[in-house]
Amino acid sequence: MKREQWGSRAGFILAAVGSAIGLGNIWRFPYMAYENGGGAFFIPYLFAMLTAGIPFMIMEFSLGHKLRGAAPRAFSKMGGKLEWLGWFQVFIAAIIAVYYVAVIGWAISYLSFSFNQSWGSDTNAFFFGEYLMLGDNSPSKLGSLQIHIAIPMAIAWAITFAAIFTGVKGGIERASKIMMPLLFLMVLGLITRIVFLPGALDGLNYLFQPDFSKILDAKVWSAAYGQIFFTLSVGFAIMIAYSSYLPEKSDINNNAFMTVLINCGFSITAGVLIFGVLGYMAQEQAKPLTEVVSAGVGLAFVTIPAAINLLPAPYILGPLFFLALVVAGLSSHISIIEAVTSAIIDKLNWSRKKAASIVCGTGFVVSMAFATNGGLLLLDLVDYFINNVALLTSCLIELAVIGWLFKVADVRSYVNNISEFSIGKWFEVCIRFLSPAMLAVILATNLVNTFN
Ligand code: PHE
Ligand code: NA
Repeated sequence: MKREQWGSRAGFILAAVGSAIGLGNIWRFPYMAYENGGGAFFIPYLFAMLTAGIPFMIMEFSLGHKLRGAAPRAFSKMGGKLEWLGWFQVFIAAIIAVYYVAVIGWAISYLSFSFNQSWGSDTNAFFFGEYLMLGDNSPSKLGSLQIHIAIPMAIAWAITFAAIFTGVKGGIERASKIMMPLLFLMVLGLITRIVFLPGALDGLNYLFQPDFSKILDAKVWSAAYGQIFFTLSVGFAIMIAYSSYLPEKSDINNNAFMTVLINCGFSITAGVLIFGVLGYMAQEQAKPLTEVVSAGVGLAFVTIPAAINLLPAPYILGPLFFLALVVAGLSSHISIIEAVTSAIIDKLNWSRKKAASIVCGTGFVVSMAFATNGGLLLLDLVDYFINNVALLTSCLIELAVIGWLFKVADVRSYVNNISEFSIGKWFEVCIRFLSPAMLAVILATNLVNTFN
C-alpha cells in the first residue's frame, strides 16, 4: 500500500506548527520565563532552541522523510535492535495524550463559561471547588468520575478522532489549515486590544526584565531545555511520523527552521499577551504584579478568568482566549494521537480506520482517570515526570544512537542535498557533543532533585 502524503508544503508546515504550538506555549512558556529570570531566561531558551531544537527538528524530519515510517519502523530500519526506542517514544506520546486531553477538556468547559463569566468573582474557589470538585477530597471520593469534566473531554476526543480517522491529507492537513490561521487571527485580535490597556506595559516589563543572577542556576537551564523539547514536540515520535508523509522533493532544512521559529515566535507573543493581561489586572487591583501571577494550571483557569472579569467586553475577549487555548491544544493532541496510530498501522498493517478507532477508544477510557477527583493530583505527577525525566531521557537516547552509532555527517549531506540552503558542520557538533552533554548534566541534576 502506498504511504499517504501531505497535499502541499504549506499543509505540512501548518500541521507541524499545529503540533508544536499547544497548551505549552500559552500556559507554560510565559510562566516559565517569568520564574526563571524573566528576560534572562531568553538566553538559555534561545541557546537551547538554536543548538538543540533546530538540529533535533532537522534530524527528525530527515529520519521520517528518508525511512518512511513512524518512529518504531524508522528506528528499526536504522538497525533491527532499535525498534524499542520508537516504541518507548510512542509510549511517552500516549501518556502525554491522555493527560493533555484533560486540560483541553477544562478549556472547553471554560470556553462555555466565558460568555457570561459564570465562574463568578472567586475564580479560585470556583476552579478547585466547584469545577474540579476538590472541596471534599476525602480519599474515598478520589475515584469518582465527574461527568461534567468527562463530557468536554469526550468532545476533544471526538474532534481528534475525526481528523485521524479521515487521514493525513483529508483529515489532519485540512484541520490544520483551518485551525492554525484561526488561532493566529484570534491571538492577533486579543493582543492588539490587550497591549493598549492601562498597566499592560508594566506587565511586559516584568516578563522581560532580566534577572541575570539566575543565569548560572542549573534549574533555569533545565527548564529551558525541557521547555524546548516539549514545545517543539521533538523526542517522542511525533515529528518523525509527520515527516514520513513528506513527498520525495521536500526542503527539510527550510521546513525545520520555519517550524521552530514560528513556534518560538508564538510563545513570545503569548507571553506578551499573558503578561499584558496580568499587568492590567495588577493595576486594576492596585496590587504588585508578583501577587497576581500564578503557575501552570492556576494561571489559565484561576488567574486568567479573574483577569477576564476585569476586562472591557469580557464576553468577547474571554471566549477568544479560551477558544485559542482549545484550538492550540487540539491541533497538538491530533499530532500525538497520529504518532501512536501511525506506529500501529506500520506494525500491524491495520487500516487507518481500525487503528484510529482502537487508539482513540482506548485513549478515551484511560483518560477518564483524569476526570475523577484524583485527576489534578495525577496530572501534576505525570506532567512532572514527563517533563523532568521521560522526555529528556528519550531525547538523550535518540541523540546517543544517531550521534554515535551512525554517521551524523550522512544525515547532514542527506538534508543538504534536498534543501535549498545547507547547514554547516555545527549541526554535527550539536548532535554529537553539545546537546548530549547538556542533556546528560540536566537529567542527572533532575534525578538528584527528584529523589531528594
Ligand atoms: N508542543 C505542544 C505544546 O507546546 C505539546 C505537545 C507535546 C504536543 C507533545 C505534542 C506532543 O503544548
Ligand atoms: Na509548542
